[in-house]
Amino acid sequence: MPEAPALWGLQMTPVVPVTEFMRDLLQPAADTLFTSVSVVVDKDGESEYGPRTDEDWARLRTAAVTIAESVFLLKIPRPIAPEPDRERHETELTAAQVLEKLQEDTVLWDARIQAVRNVALQAIDVVERRDTEELWDVGANLYQACQNCHYDYWYPAQRDLLIELEEKVRQFREQSGSATP
Ligand code: HEC
Repeated sequence: MPEAPALWGLQMTPVVPVTEFMRDLLQPAADTLFTSVSVVVDKDGESEYGPRTDEDWARLRTAAVTIAESVFLLKIPRPIAPEPDRERHETELTAAQVLEKLQEDTVLWDARIQAVRNVALQAIDVVERRDTEELWDVGANLYQACQNCHYDYWYPAQRDLLIELEEKVRQFREQSGSATP
């Protein structure tokens, strides 16, 4: 596709702050992909579940396209949080700090957005090939792409702690032989 020279419309304006964009748009679409495959372990052993019908795959495509297209809307300047803001944990930045960080480094912000788009493109491709196995990858990649932006702009103090924790959980799961990622 050629580079679009300008917007078709005259301007783009946001409707909701970043937090509500996440809650009402990105998270529900991401959840569809996160829960697209699962493993259930019971007395008969392990059973893997994934999309089966055309409708199942269509739902995954809707989610992938929603994320691929909508994540670029995070390039439109918008408030970070509604006023008044919710109470924040001490490890979170305040909305004002998030905004300041973002304005200091819009290149990184853009890269984080692009990373999510890339995973969404992978998801669209996987859905087109109906590759159930690769849906596991999509879920893991998406989770990481979302988290990377959150570590940079939302709770940087938690980055090291969480990485350490995730590593411990991973090791624990490996040791206990569970197949969940
Ligand atoms: C370009 C950066 C960026 C990307 C990419 C991103 N987020 Fe966020 N997200 C944020 C910021 C910033 C906040 C927190 C704003 C705040 O509370 O200060 C946030 C907050 C959230 C919240 C909390 C919303 C609330 O109700 O407070 C959820 C849920 C969330 N993101 C989900 C996702 C998911 C799922 C993805 C990936 C599909 C994603 N985010 C990708 C920047 C990003």
